[in-house]
Amino acid sequence: TVPVIVDCDPGHDDVFALWLAAGHPSLELLAVTTVGGNVSIEHTSRNARIALTVAGVAHVPVAAGAAGPLVRELETAEWIHGANGLGGPELPEPTVPLDPRGATALIADALLASSEPVAIIATGPITNVAVLLRDRPELAGRIREIVWMGGSTERGNVTPYAEFNAWVDPEALDLVVGSGVRFTMVGLNVTHRALVTEAVRERLAAVGTRTAAFGDELLDFFCRTNDEVFGMPDGPLHDPVAVAVLADPGCVELEHTRLDVELAGTETAGATSVDFDGMLRREPNAWVATGLDVDRFWGLVETAVSRLT
Ligand code: BDR
Ligand code: CA
Repeated sequence: TVPVIVDCDPGHDDVFALWLAAGHPSLELLAVTTVGGNVSIEHTSRNARIALTVAGVAHVPVAAGAAGPLVRELETAEWIHGANGLGGPELPEPTVPLDPRGATALIADALLASSEPVAIIATGPITNVAVLLRDRPELAGRIREIVWMGGSTERGNVTPYAEFNAWVDPEALDLVVGSGVRFTMVGLNVTHRALVTEAVRERLAAVGTRTAAFGDELLDFFCRTNDEVFGMPDGPLHDPVAVAVLADPGCVELEHTRLDVELAGTETAGATSVDFDGMLRREPNAWVATGLDVDRFWGLVETAVSRLT
């Protein structure tokens, strides 16, 4: 099993990322940290605790991290996720507590306590990971790799060329990509294949657990807002695809290539520039997802959800 930490901003699809990390037999979820992104840090922290409470995951510590990006103002996405970040189901009171340590300290403790290097999966703006690498660089060697949902090799979803997580905190992304820790970008070019079709909803609902029923209510809301905003009734469930990279490596195709982040663009801030053709003659510095075995991916989600309460 691969020991992992999930850093997230729930968010409907982040909840499925948490469930995949907590429920899949190939992964051991050590800790969860939260960041301001889809909604405020207060909401994302509460939502992460709710996601674990619903799934019956009581032993994994959850700590809150950065309220906003390194240098920019926080931009949120209530138009997709609802005012509280988890529109749709009635939300239970979380029984999983908030760990007082804070995200950076919790990640540091988890890295130091593990007998082997730990993977960090980030499914929001990557601010917390940037803060960790900036303030505790001596811990970099304890990170097996960083897998991040965000960016795109094609077009964006918040401006023509920027994806939301990259656009919210491009300076953090730039710092993490330049850190030398193995980095994998799982962008819209692949997550747009993880579509929540009617057949997918039926497949997941048929699992029959409390988690599956709660998940179906989340997907109902998520698909409705995606239809309103993007004209896509089969919403793309972005974040668990980053978890799939570690749960089942053969499920996501990766290419070793050059990744740079636009920091200064007037129209393209937060765009991810992926130089597949080596035009810039720079050293490859990242793995970039280029393909997804869609059926195998939903199988992973189904397996994980069926192992939770
Ligand atoms: C990303 O933005 C958020 O709204 C989702 O949770 C996902 O992490 C997709 O662009
Ligand atoms: Ca997210």
